[in-house]
Amino acid sequence: VAAAAAASFAFAAPAIASEGCDDGEIVIKFSHVVAATGHPKGDAATMLADRVNKEMDGKACMQVFPNSQLFDDDKVMEALLLGDVQLAAPSLSKFEAYTLKYRVFDLPFLFANLSAVDRFNSSEAGKGLLDSMQDVGYQGLGYWLSGLKQFSANKPLLEPSDANGLKFRIQTSDVAEAMIEAIGGNAQKLAFKEVYGALQTGVVDGQENTWSNIYTQKFFEVQDGITETNHQVLAYLLVTSTEWLNSLDDETRTQFLKITEEVTKAGNDAVADAEAKNRQRILEAGATIRELTPEQRAKWVEVMKPVWGKFQEDIGEDLINAAVASND
Ligand code: LMR
Repeated sequence: VAAAAAASFAFAAPAIASEGCDDGEIVIKFSHVVAATGHPKGDAATMLADRVNKEMDGKACMQVFPNSQLFDDDKVMEALLLGDVQLAAPSLSKFEAYTLKYRVFDLPFLFANLSAVDRFNSSEAGKGLLDSMQDVGYQGLGYWLSGLKQFSANKPLLEPSDANGLKFRIQTSDVAEAMIEAIGGNAQKLAFKEVYGALQTGVVDGQENTWSNIYTQKFFEVQDGITETNHQVLAYLLVTSTEWLNSLDDETRTQFLKITEEVTKAGNDAVADAEAKNRQRILEAGATIRELTPEQRAKWVEVMKPVWGKFQEDIGEDLINAAVASND
């Protein structure tokens, strides 16, 4: 199915130049949708390219295309299979067409903090999930953390009932849709690059994202304020095509995967700090951040947690239990 879908996009793929690469080098194009700098993913992608270009000079050459300038997260999956790009890092919420297992990451109020997510990702269960799309031609190379998500809207949100009747932009995730319905809102799936405009023109009333995305995309400019709900994790899968990975000779693949692993760790270690800085920048820009009292937070948890039940079968109870256990 994935291959057939990819073929139908073949003629739509833009021509991508390989400037800056030498003849004979393997060109590794990495397309993503966020800011090039000041964002955990943008910075990690740059770090990866810098290391590949230095340590694999003559063998490989990496180019990074940020800000959805090449592909959005739907199209990039086709582009990987077509060989138009070799790396991408869509959020784990965006793989529903390929596997339902990643829904575990979207369950609201599952992970208490980023360290818990990291522990789950490094566990046997988490590592196993990197291979869950091999049958459709993709290989996960590692998890890149981004942060916990916060809600924003064109009116103050303190209790879940404040969201009643509001329209929220969500990623392409049925779990997110169920979560928004649980708080009485309407969910609209939109590509990341369309969110600012949709908030500005009132196509949607609110959205949910990390401090880094809210700051670098300037969502705070077109919202009443942001409520610190920390209701869900945003993390990415660094992903490639199995065909491309298998096409590398053993030595090149081993070297590339080692660099990838080290950059994944360094990038993840830097996330908490980047998130705190971007939260602070939002405040300094004059935006309102609302913190919840324990009682208010308990209400959000109470309303959203029943969503888990709807997806338990798709995800598997063992996987959910393993994720919950990572909080200890
Ligand atoms: C979103 O669509 O909100 C995020 O997945 C964007 C990103 O890559 O952080």
